Amino acid sequence: MLEVNKVSLKYGQSPILHDVSFTAPVGQVTTIMGTNGVGKTSLLRALSGRHPYTTGDITLDGEALNHVSAVQAARKGIAYVPQGREVFPMMSVAENLETGFACLPKGDRSVPDRVFDLFPVLLEMKDRRGGDLSGGQQQQLAIARALITGPKVLLLDEPTEGIQPNVIQQIGRAIAQLRDRGDMAIVLVEQNVDFAFRAADHFVMMKRGEVWRKMQKDKCTRQDIIDSLAL
Ligand SMILES: Nc1ncnc2c1ncn2[C@@H]1O[C@H](COP(=O)(O)OP(=O)(O)OP(=O)(O)O)[C@@H](O)[C@H]1O
Ligand SMILES: [Mg+2]
Repeated sequence: MLEVNKVSLKYGQSPILHDVSFTAPVGQVTTIMGTNGVGKTSLLRALSGRHPYTTGDITLDGEALNHVSAVQAARKGIAYVPQGREVFPMMSVAENLETGFACLPKGDRSVPDRVFDLFPVLLEMKDRRGGDLSGGQQQQLAIARALITGPKVLLLDEPTEGIQPNVIQQIGRAIAQLRDRGDMAIVLVEQNVDFAFRAADHFVMMKRGEVWRKMQKDKCTRQDIIDSLAL
């Protein structure tokens, strides 16, 4: 379980996150929602060691992860799929996947078969350049690359952004399969309400850098989520 306790973050002198707290249990999808600019990406950057936070604690399975670097966070089991995918366009699909090895010991450097089971299209396209893939295929590649390390926590930043509906469904199925494996906590940042509502077990609603409401999927409706975003 990932526990985030009163995390605050600044860019320069500008405060962005204020005392953000939530837990992300293993085997569940914790969905972070909020309008543009509330600080969702900043939160994932803090959790993945990509930006320092000013105060607060982050623990994984009870172990403090405080102020680790991105490489250390990856070694501890936190995988990050960035907003906009950040696939290397001139490298092949296989090479893009291999970049996921960077934080692993040399003996552990192989692409697990279950990555291709999840996204068979990547096996078909493994020699194609990342930049030649469609947006949806690139998103699948970015998720697959994050899974190479066998993470305990998977952070996904708006995986449906700019992606065709049929691929959105495939990504939804992949997230559900990963959740059902029961060996990782999934933190999903999402603005697509329908996708978020299908994927989530619970919701963390953000407003102006703060968590202002938490909702359980089984105790709310899709309309509650929309109303909550609009407030
Ligand atoms: N590197 C940066 N330097 C300064 N300010 C930044 C930086 N990155 C983001 N911000 C600001 O921090 C705030 C939160 O940005 P963030 O990207 O975390 O929001 P978000 O909720 O992910 O938005 P979106 O839905 O558009 O992806 C915004 O006001 C943004 O302009
Ligand atoms: Mg963002």
